[in-house]
Amino acid sequence: MATQQGLMSSTVAPLKLGSFSRSKSSLSARGGTLVRLLSPAHPRVHALRAGSRGVAAGRWAAAPAGAGATTGTAAPAEMEWPPVPQEQVDAMRSLNGWVAENMLPLLTPVESAWQPYDYLPRSASAAAEAEAFTEGLAELRAAAACLPDDVLVCLVGNMVTEEALPTYQSMGNRVEGIGDDTGSSSLPWARWIRGWTAEENRHGDLLNRYLYLTGRVDMRQVEITTHHLLRNGMEMLAPKSPYHSLIYGAFQERATFISHGHTARLAMQHGDRTLAKICGVIAADERRHEAGYTKVSARLFDVDPDGMVRALAHVMRGKVTMPGQLMSDGRAPAEGGDDTLFARFSAVAQRAGVYTASDYGDLVEHFVRRWRVAELGGLSGEGRRAQEYVCGLAPKIRRMEELAQRRAARGEPGLARFSWIFDRTVVVS
Ligand SMILES: [Fe+2]
Ligand SMILES: [Fe+2]
Repeated sequence: MATQQGLMSSTVAPLKLGSFSRSKSSLSARGGTLVRLLSPAHPRVHALRAGSRGVAAGRWAAAPAGAGATTGTAAPAEMEWPPVPQEQVDAMRSLNGWVAENMLPLLTPVESAWQPYDYLPRSASAAAEAEAFTEGLAELRAAAACLPDDVLVCLVGNMVTEEALPTYQSMGNRVEGIGDDTGSSSLPWARWIRGWTAEENRHGDLLNRYLYLTGRVDMRQVEITTHHLLRNGMEMLAPKSPYHSLIYGAFQERATFISHGHTARLAMQHGDRTLAKICGVIAADERRHEAGYTKVSARLFDVDPDGMVRALAHVMRGKVTMPGQLMSDGRAPAEGGDDTLFARFSAVAQRAGVYTASDYGDLVEHFVRRWRVAELGGLSGEGRRAQEYVCGLAPKIRRMEELAQRRAARGEPGLARFSWIFDRTVVVS
């Protein structure tokens, strides 16, 4: 979700108060790899500049920028995606028993799961509780009053991304071999998707209610943003491919875990213990989800190493849309340039340390090691090339980051305006 701070900082156009202004060169620097998988909130992954434009070119004509993003009336032709190889579909179906034994236990039983109500002032109407609610609300507001604008922007961006959960559930059900064909299927893959959705649903609920109670953000503008994002959807690199989707899921869950975890740390630093707890419990959920997608991907690397390493390279190279990429508040555009709402939000997250290019480098390194990509044998020529590319990626990201940081030290800061915080501006570089 975030973009690499240095890259952005180094190329910001002359400071323009109240806008988010970037030169063309910043776009090309931000493109490709770094910006791509940086979105924290999923669930988290992102398509950047080139991503949203490039992919859209052959696909669903990008809706007009800004407020028009969800009002387009044209019905452009859809791109024909290549069919998923039958052996991949069979591999997924063959894992149903494994999913039941190894993934479903990662979901928390409803009886012991936390609920948003556990972390917010109790609103029950009994007289005794009414007083407690008033006191709890006053405490919540007093702590939230200390939060700086950049933390609020990060929270809103993460919340909006979580709130677009219907998009992600429908995405899961589109994937060949794991989708919930009936809506109530008893197959383990389908139960995982529904159980995962039920856990994720609490994240947006909790962040939304917290933000509403603080009185610190313009909730109507926030709600408009969620509305636009759900209407705009998200772009996927290979929407029906199980290999791509599970790898993507692993990256996104880990990115989200990192992002919410960093936000919890910031909240604690600013004295908001309630928010720190909220972000902490959400991060813990993301960690369990990451474990599920990571484990099943590891299993698939055993079953079909060549197919998986090629899919991994494709995900790394591809122009993948982050879940919140197409957000719009009706003012800042969802698409159409480098000054999108998502780009602004990403820049703030980068600068605040909520999700950074360095985190992304760590992410790539983690998964390459976890899936033992360097040790894979018996690969095809294409598989070996994919292996070489993926194994050399983290050092490249780090080199780019160092370069960008040096440039950033010489650059001018930029400002981005957010309707979410009543049109105040935030420094982005
Ligand atoms: Fe989540
Ligand atoms: Fe998650």
